[in-house]
Amino acid sequence: MPQLKSVMTQPVPYDVLIIGSGAAGLSLALQLPESLRIAVVAKRDLCEGNTLYAQGGISAVLDANDSLESHVADTLDAGGGLCDEAAVRRVVEHGPESIGWLLEQGVEFTRTPATGTAGYHLTREGGHTHRRVIHAADATGRAVETTLADRLHARSNTDILERHIAVDLITSDKLGLTGPRRCVGAYLLNLDAGHVRSIPAKCVVLATGGAAKAYLYTSNPDVATGDGIAMAWRAGCRVANMEFIQFHPTCLYHPDAKASLISEAVRGEGGRLLLPDGTRFMPAFDERAELAPRDIVARAIDHEMKRLGIDCVLLDISHKDADFVRGHFPTIYEHCLALGFDMTKEPLPVVPAAHYTCGGVITGADAQTDLRGLYAIGETAYTGLHGANRMASNSLLECLVFANLAARDIMARIDALTAPPALPTWDESRVTNSDEEVVVAHNWDELRRFMWDYVGIVRTDKRLQRAKRRVNLLRQEIAEYYGNFRVTNDLLELRNLVDVADLIICSAQRRKESRGLHYTLDYPRPDESQRHPTILIPDHYVPASGRS
Ligand code: FAD
Ligand code: SIN
Repeated sequence: MPQLKSVMTQPVPYDVLIIGSGAAGLSLALQLPESLRIAVVAKRDLCEGNTLYAQGGISAVLDANDSLESHVADTLDAGGGLCDEAAVRRVVEHGPESIGWLLEQGVEFTRTPATGTAGYHLTREGGHTHRRVIHAADATGRAVETTLADRLHARSNTDILERHIAVDLITSDKLGLTGPRRCVGAYLLNLDAGHVRSIPAKCVVLATGGAAKAYLYTSNPDVATGDGIAMAWRAGCRVANMEFIQFHPTCLYHPDAKASLISEAVRGEGGRLLLPDGTRFMPAFDERAELAPRDIVARAIDHEMKRLGIDCVLLDISHKDADFVRGHFPTIYEHCLALGFDMTKEPLPVVPAAHYTCGGVITGADAQTDLRGLYAIGETAYTGLHGANRMASNSLLECLVFANLAARDIMARIDALTAPPALPTWDESRVTNSDEEVVVAHNWDELRRFMWDYVGIVRTDKRLQRAKRRVNLLRQEIAEYYGNFRVTNDLLELRNLVDVADLIICSAQRRKESRGLHYTLDYPRPDESQRHPTILIPDHYVPASGRS
């Protein structure tokens, strides 16, 4: 590993540097013209990320009996009074054309000619008053991700940088450039070669997904460490609504398996939640029973588990025809069977787990962040769509719609943007290899455990204070470590998780009420005077008037 500067030549600037290759990043790359020079960065393989594991589907108004107004109303209702209605309308109205675009790319959704809905089967999920979730059996994300990845591979204008992790954004002020502060590129660590390169670009897009790995139990894959949110925050962008972490009600409970999702569509197709003695409990919590929005179902399960001292509840769809269950949920069926559960014959043990980051980097209608030249799309962004609780299957839709809006904005501006100047190289002259990797591993575990215990489904002021004290200590320790040792993937992810955990805790501490996904025993009811997003502003934030 070289001790000195790792890059000797200055790379040619990209027009667009897209960090992240899930539904958001890939859709954007494919909607930009081939005349632009683009890079798509993924910190693992191109397809690894939350998108690949998405099960239920994508919500959009595709049935003649459904309406845009109804999709808007359901989203606003699930969002607990905090959605930005203009953002909701924008996303819902672009829904049908977004699905049309996926079909053009070749995504094969499940068909049911008998439904009369353009031949596609639509399922139901929590909060939706209509069947409006288009899907590819129970592996919708895989169908979307692999189809888009194939399309991208066929493009000659795009460099695909797999196993590269973005370390930080590079801003013009750091280079001593005058004029409005802007993003001019990013530092990327090549995980195989072990060196960091400065990559210049006219504009940079964060499509880095969510942050649910901040919690001990999560449905998310390992890449979901909130890197984009942390990088944007460090670069001076505001973030919003970080207290609203969604816990999916039904992840398979198995001591030897990582939490794996049991799609909400299982409840949409008739699955019932039961206590160990077989009693159905959801009707006592909400008239919509198993199809109430996720915050309500997850809290009800948590309540019953704590009340009875049980490790899990049961999800039962065994009363349905076995062929129907296998046909609709082939992936889930096989996965559970491999772990010893036959869902056509017996109920599945399930628990809630951290699933989705409703808050994120604040963006406008064109997906631009507070920093010129920096966009954020997908789960990493806060667009105003989800409010205090995301409705099922609205996330992939948001990825598609804002990728399209970002593409349009970039195309409108790119010719006027000047290429960034030569960037500084990454200086490793004062760091050494770490002699104690155990510090990083230990801190990862500690962080995820206290976030689960103190900043989980049910919070209190005292628990949040405890979490805040611990995150402050970790922040100090990690800052020292980062300053002294050569960067590694685990160190970078931990540094980001600490920043994001701090944002979650600070946001939760500000909200002195219970609303949507944020529930605290100290303020158990909503308070109308607090019906606004929680906006956190970094020290070096430059307000809009100073930016243009
Ligand atoms: P992701 O798909 O998570 O992609 C993130 C990308 O960023 C990856 O390529 C990753 O490598 C890259 N990345 C991250 N950090 C860095 C870095 N520092 N440097 C370089 N690259 C980086 N939503 C729905 O609407 N419908 C569903 O049915 C559904 N089911 C779900 C099931 C599961 C199990 C999970 C976990 C989520 C589900 N969701 C669903 C949510 C939805 O899948 C995600 O919100 C959505 O896929 C996010 O897409 P994205 O493009 O923003 O990020
Ligand atoms: C699921 O299939 O239950 C996940 C859907 C979502 O997260 O939107």
